[in-house]
Amino acid sequence: MTRITVRDIQQMKAKGEKIPMVTAYDYTVARLADEAGIPMLLVGDSLGMVVLGYESTIPVIMEDMVRHTRAVARGCKRALVVGDMPFMSYQEDASQALRNAARLVQEGGAQAVKLEGGVSVADTVRRIVQAGVPVMGHIGLTPQSVNAFGGFRVQGRTRREAEQLVRDAQALEVAGAFAIVLELVPISLAQLVSEVVTVPTIGIGSGPRCDGQVQVLHDMLGLYTDFVPRHTKQYARLGEQIAAAFTQYAAEVKGGAFPTEKHAFTADEAMMDEIRDLYRPGGSHP
Ligand code: KIV
Repeated sequence: MTRITVRDIQQMKAKGEKIPMVTAYDYTVARLADEAGIPMLLVGDSLGMVVLGYESTIPVIMEDMVRHTRAVARGCKRALVVGDMPFMSYQEDASQALRNAARLVQEGGAQAVKLEGGVSVADTVRRIVQAGVPVMGHIGLTPQSVNAFGGFRVQGRTRREAEQLVRDAQALEVAGAFAIVLELVPISLAQLVSEVVTVPTIGIGSGPRCDGQVQVLHDMLGLYTDFVPRHTKQYARLGEQIAAAFTQYAAEVKGGAFPTEKHAFTADEAMMDEIRDLYRPGGSHP
């Protein structure tokens, strides 16, 4: 089975084929998504919220990303694996960015990395791409800057913001990014960006006119129920099914319905008789 490459992803846009992408954080889910034919998996730093229980992605560190990227890469034979660069793993200088991008590829087994920002990170993107690591850009709402934005809100609604977004996308393309995530951008602005750049745009909360879509696994499968974003379509309600399964399991263990003999193993009863004689009260074991 041959691995999907960044070139394959770019050809999908050229052919007018939409590009589905989901986040994955572990081996089991990566296998399921890979076998379902999802061409690109993102080991997002959203794992900080949906897996590790932080309030934002800001506390996520390189060690978290390397460990989860490695798990996803092990589960995935065909899909292109993109590892997210966490907050402050690429902002210091180019050598820090190169070192950490290399870790996601060398130790994590990713085929590409993603980082947040437009014009301001274009030089960093160029350096990483020149080193041979494909980079996915991410503009619009960039969750690592949530404190600067003052919350998770739609971006690019004013003329200044909208023009800046187009310039950010152009700068990323010129710097060599192979694709660009557009998060929480109005539909017509996402369409304009998708027309202006030749690389695929991958939308989240940015409407149907992007070249592809990415969804956070826990949102689309109904696993993370604290908050369901408006842009999410729940394709399953696994959270409810899991809760019902746990409730039934607890009741069956308490009531003795589980486990039955069918879930256990037998011993040699002649041997057990001998041991019982030794150990029962008053038996001959010293
Ligand atoms: O971390 C993540 O899951 C992401 C997506 C929201 C694009 O960056």
